[in-house]
Amino acid sequence: MSVKVSLQHKRKGFRKEQFRSFAGLFFVVSISFPFCPALCAPADSAAAPKKMHVIAHRGGRKWAPENTLSSFRKALEFGVDGIELDIHRCKSGELIVIHDEDLSRTTNGDGFIADKTLDELKKLDAGSWYDKSFAGEKLPLLDEVLKLVQGKTEINIEIKNGYKTYPGIEDDLLELLKSYPYPDKIVISSFDHQCLLNIHKRTDKYRLALLIDGLLVDLPTYAKKIGVQNWHPGFSNIGFASVKRAHDAGLVVNSWTINTTDEWKQADQMHLDGVITDDPVAAKAFFQH
Ligand code: G3P
Ligand code: MG
Repeated sequence: MSVKVSLQHKRKGFRKEQFRSFAGLFFVVSISFPFCPALCAPADSAAAPKKMHVIAHRGGRKWAPENTLSSFRKALEFGVDGIELDIHRCKSGELIVIHDEDLSRTTNGDGFIADKTLDELKKLDAGSWYDKSFAGEKLPLLDEVLKLVQGKTEINIEIKNGYKTYPGIEDDLLELLKSYPYPDKIVISSFDHQCLLNIHKRTDKYRLALLIDGLLVDLPTYAKKIGVQNWHPGFSNIGFASVKRAHDAGLVVNSWTINTTDEWKQADQMHLDGVITDDPVAAKAFFQH
């Protein structure tokens, strides 16, 4: 009798538990449904390529002189996902947007930025070398670019600190960025990983990106040590396997400089997150933004 009772009790208990499990399962499935793409997307859309971020290299130098306000205005007009720019520090201490450490290629001046004051730099023409329609274009301050962009797109600020070094440039940058109210729209990159590590030690407000021209033995451990979230490798160095390893380590991978249809196809096949390109209009059309 006692056996019967306990069996009955067990069966009843089992039915109750079964009911609870089904109800629980139903609850979990119904609340996850709107958040789970695999459940709510049509089967064939799982294969659709994810959106590729198109980042205008030096502001997109196919349409305007690189690293100028004209190039950044165009980038905004065309709705790029991000702009990439390079910074150096001049003699009077301001952060100047320009790629080379000397002035001869992209202005009508010469000598190093580090040896010129802002007043001297602002007298130079940074547009005529590209096309006479850009005559009178000035070298921009990073501050002027921030005021122009105002969170409308992501800005990838590359700290140049190589042939000419600027001790403490990362502190100057952090100071300037303090008043920029869109920290989530800033990515700071550099080939100088000590600069990135210094920033990581001071703040976690900005996304950091390792610039590397080559492959590391153990990128995940290194990236963790420096405190970066992004890996920005040169395109000629990477392939599907290295991008996958970076993704498995939780890194966002944006590569440079990717300018042709063939390369964009490869970028897509490698599942890159972003292409840093001189030709953002064609890239956007290719990736069907
Ligand atoms: O940030 C990617 C790319 O800009 C690095 O090369 O020489 O164009 O600054 P570079
Ligand atoms: Mg750069």
